[in-house]
Amino acid sequence: MSDKPQSIIGAGVPRIDGPDKLSGRANYAADNLPPNLAYGYGVFSTIASGKVSQLSVDEARKMPGVIDIFHHSHFPSLYRTPSSFAQGNKVEETRLPFEDERVYYDGQFVALVVADTFENARAAARRVKVTYAADKAVANLDQGVEANGTQAGSGNHDRGDAASAFDGAATTIDATYRTPVETHNPMEMHASTAWWDNGDLTIFDASQGVVVARNALAKIFAIPPERITVHAPYIGSGFGSKLWTWPHAIATAAASRELDRPVQLVVPRQQMFTTTGHRPETRQRLRLATDDNGRLVSLRHESINTTSYTDQYVETCGSVTKSLYRCPNLTVSHETTQVNRGTPTSMRAPGAAPGLFALESAIDEMADAVGIDPVQFRLDNYAERDESKDLPFSSNHIVEATKRAAERFGWADRKPEVGSMKEGREIVGYGMAACNWEALKMACDARVSIRADGTAFASCATQDIGTGTYTIVAQAVSDVTGIPIDRITVKLGDSSYPDGPVSGGSWATATTLPAIAEAARNALDEMKRYATGSNGAFAGASSDDLEVADGGLRNADGKQVSFADILQAGRYGSADGEAHTEGADSKYSYRSFGAHFVEVRWDPGISRLRVARVVSAIDVGRVINETTARNQVEGAVVMGIGMGLFEATEYDERNARPVNNDYAEYVVPVHADQPEIDVILLDYPDLAFNEYGARGIGEIGVTGLAAAVANAVHHATGKRIRELPITLDKLMDDVPQARSA
Ligand code: MOS
Repeated sequence: MSDKPQSIIGAGVPRIDGPDKLSGRANYAADNLPPNLAYGYGVFSTIASGKVSQLSVDEARKMPGVIDIFHHSHFPSLYRTPSSFAQGNKVEETRLPFEDERVYYDGQFVALVVADTFENARAAARRVKVTYAADKAVANLDQGVEANGTQAGSGNHDRGDAASAFDGAATTIDATYRTPVETHNPMEMHASTAWWDNGDLTIFDASQGVVVARNALAKIFAIPPERITVHAPYIGSGFGSKLWTWPHAIATAAASRELDRPVQLVVPRQQMFTTTGHRPETRQRLRLATDDNGRLVSLRHESINTTSYTDQYVETCGSVTKSLYRCPNLTVSHETTQVNRGTPTSMRAPGAAPGLFALESAIDEMADAVGIDPVQFRLDNYAERDESKDLPFSSNHIVEATKRAAERFGWADRKPEVGSMKEGREIVGYGMAACNWEALKMACDARVSIRADGTAFASCATQDIGTGTYTIVAQAVSDVTGIPIDRITVKLGDSSYPDGPVSGGSWATATTLPAIAEAARNALDEMKRYATGSNGAFAGASSDDLEVADGGLRNADGKQVSFADILQAGRYGSADGEAHTEGADSKYSYRSFGAHFVEVRWDPGISRLRVARVVSAIDVGRVINETTARNQVEGAVVMGIGMGLFEATEYDERNARPVNNDYAEYVVPVHADQPEIDVILLDYPDLAFNEYGARGIGEIGVTGLAAAVANAVHHATGKRIRELPITLDKLMDDVPQARSA
């Protein structure tokens, strides 16, 4: 399969969905405009804690085009769904919309206006009069800990005796790091378009998981999943915010059923900062100890993250800490504290992104403390096996990744003294950090048909959130059948297709491709049965004598018949294959590895900081598509720069309301902030993991990057910034800091 010369696997095949997206043919959730469509618009709470004391819809009711207005005393009774990842019906808020008059966060739906046009719905929503009885809101992590203490989280780990090893060690570091709320800001806003037909629900939803959404909605409406179809053929990305079902999708489907007409709802950008998740705020204490040789002997990573009053979301900041470095005495613990914010959710590299900011900053601090070059310190301490699971890694090339990136970057030119590398008015800083992400693979079903017209058709109820899934599925079909890419149609994003994975956790590729390949092989087996049947092109031959070649079958004598001719001869419309493949085994620890090297430039005269250059070497197993894979890492690096320098959702500490909840004031990197980015993909197939040896590439690039920036900033300025983002005020000498970490 994969050792053929010029394999389609690994080639930089352009995105097959590119023309549809560029020409506007691609339909996103809110592009669906069924006949008789009504439009919903939310009324959102303007307090973060308390209750609705009065809700008057009289004036709004009289506005043009209004059809109905739903709220806590006018909404159908729905059913709960266990908030369980394992059961595949995750809802990111255990309360149902409009369940009662309680308000747990600013921007919570308190009413839903449905009208004949979007504009009429919005205008009427502004006439809904809501009065509140407000309670004192808990606005941030420190307030949460003070008011509510902490609750035990999950994903903890303990080995050896970290406390005594720390106390007796040669060198120790004890530092606390903080990361702010970050809000997912995909270009496509959350949206749902829903309608019912004789008790069957159809919903176009901006979803990273059509199967999970279908299963959740089935529980909530207490109907069989077979009566629900969730469509998400195109998604304008999600970064995790579209993994699970949010209140707006439930409210839209319920309103549509009540009104017996299609309803569409788009979540306004401002409410994407309140009702559709965020990466929670974290406070992380790192304690490290080394022996006389600079080897880690003790490592403790304790984190607290904010969660909501309506669900417990654990940001597993220590998930990577457990296994990245060799260390006999290690403790990882996670706790949560409740605040008046909407429920947090996974955001690209959940746990690892904030966790590695803290860990890889602390490792850098330790390297400094013991006077060892930070690259050498890591090479000395990287784990050779997963000590948290007591298993070997299936494939781990972090040493090579670190060395290759260091060489490409020119790390050898780094002068270790802080502030010693000057160029004109600028001080240059070099910093680096490791990156890491677990490789996951789930169960998956898929279907492949080879058709009488010479084309192939593949389907799976996974999605392409912009990462290239359509394209790599076509590559796998082409790889197995020899049918060229331009004759392969791939259908994803429809829950009526064979069950596929969420587009998340960086597992879609590793999960989907084995099922697609197996289904394609099963289709070829059927093709061979047709070919060797009594009227077949190879009548009387044995299937074992036939090989797949150039879009057809060939026997030992060199007789070659195309798939189309075989099917036409037997009057078969298609040869079909289905497959079910299983999730990962537990023979190994499956992880991806890498290293980021960052150059920053600090101009103290005008207090200007920029990231000038990034070199990242990434070991994710086999690369399926050179173009889309590189693009994933480049995008993740940009997101990591955002995390390092810009992104933070700010809440008013008096009332827990987000204050920079729009594209203007929630700062993300723009073109002017882009450095040179050089991505090295190591491309070592991990064949213990799956037949393609691919581990997935969506998230690893964002891990460690903010730490590499912070470490470079320290090298340039001498300032250890332990609280993200690294805004300019934190680098100025005479600016009073709101809080010292
Ligand atoms: Mo990602 S946070 O698994 O969409």
